[in-house]
Amino acid sequence: MPIRVTREGHVATVTVDRPERLNALDTETLRELLARFDELAQDPSVRAIVLTGAGDRAFIAGADIAEMKDKGPAEALTFARLGQAVCSAIESAPQPVIAAINGYALGGGCEIALACDIRLASEKAVLGQPEVTLGVPPGWGGTQRLPRLVGPGLARELIFTGRRVAAEEALRTGLVNAVYPPSELLERARALAADVARNGPVAVRLAKEAIRRGLDVDLEAGLALEAQAFALAFSTADQREGMSAFLEKRAPVFRGL
Ligand code: CAA
Repeated sequence: MPIRVTREGHVATVTVDRPERLNALDTETLRELLARFDELAQDPSVRAIVLTGAGDRAFIAGADIAEMKDKGPAEALTFARLGQAVCSAIESAPQPVIAAINGYALGGGCEIALACDIRLASEKAVLGQPEVTLGVPPGWGGTQRLPRLVGPGLARELIFTGRRVAAEEALRTGLVNAVYPPSELLERARALAADVARNGPVAVRLAKEAIRRGLDVDLEAGLALEAQAFALAFSTADQREGMSAFLEKRAPVFRGL
């Protein structure tokens, strides 16, 4: 199986496991990834997800070029839609998804990382959108999510040149949230996921959805979404537990209800 899922408490770790291809994504691996994220989305015991790549060289080195090479336009459209569906499943997962970028995150690999909520990188990470060097534009969301994350100027430069970005520049430009030594990355990502998982899961989910939807609407519509999410939280046991625990000076026990 090219995708491995492990659990520790409320945190799931999803590992793309094709190290001999630097974890490049072919159709089979994309379908597996989609199926695993669909399952995780329906599992209320999972409160945060870490996504990483097997081995010490790559997060995901992109779409599988050997598989793509002989596609016609109709097959390429199907392949683009499948990759986009995986990115959308990650982006709309109820749980926050943290990318632990342990090496190359190029092309489709960078696009998968862009769909995650938070990106942590190892000092060895290399990110970029090299598709134009292969004669194609990005196809799994790079033209849309990269400008939204780092701004249109830098996104245009990176997409038009295919230039690779090292961890330090990725940190400086906001492409990643933090950089760690390779040996610490996974542990740091899981610790961050555990921090998220300690909080009210419904509240985190509502916040994720408000941020995601709010990024694509004007401020007034976004604030209306936020007020509704806030109000909805007051129908949960977790809201009463969180506020009671504060007033009683004890740690809250959230049940996701
Ligand atoms: N697809 C298929 N195979 C890949 C691959 C990919 N994206 N990336 C690496 N591999 C394979 C290599 O072909 C090689 O296989 P062999 O051992 O059989 O030769 C193996 O993985 C190891 O890779 P390298 O020997 O190339 O390792 P390196 O250290 O010399 O270079 C690298 C590493 C810079 C990441 C280089 O492999 C590379 O440039 N890979 C391609 C990156 C890329 O262009 N990604 C974008 C793909 S297009 C895309 O993703 C479209 C989209 O938007 C959806």
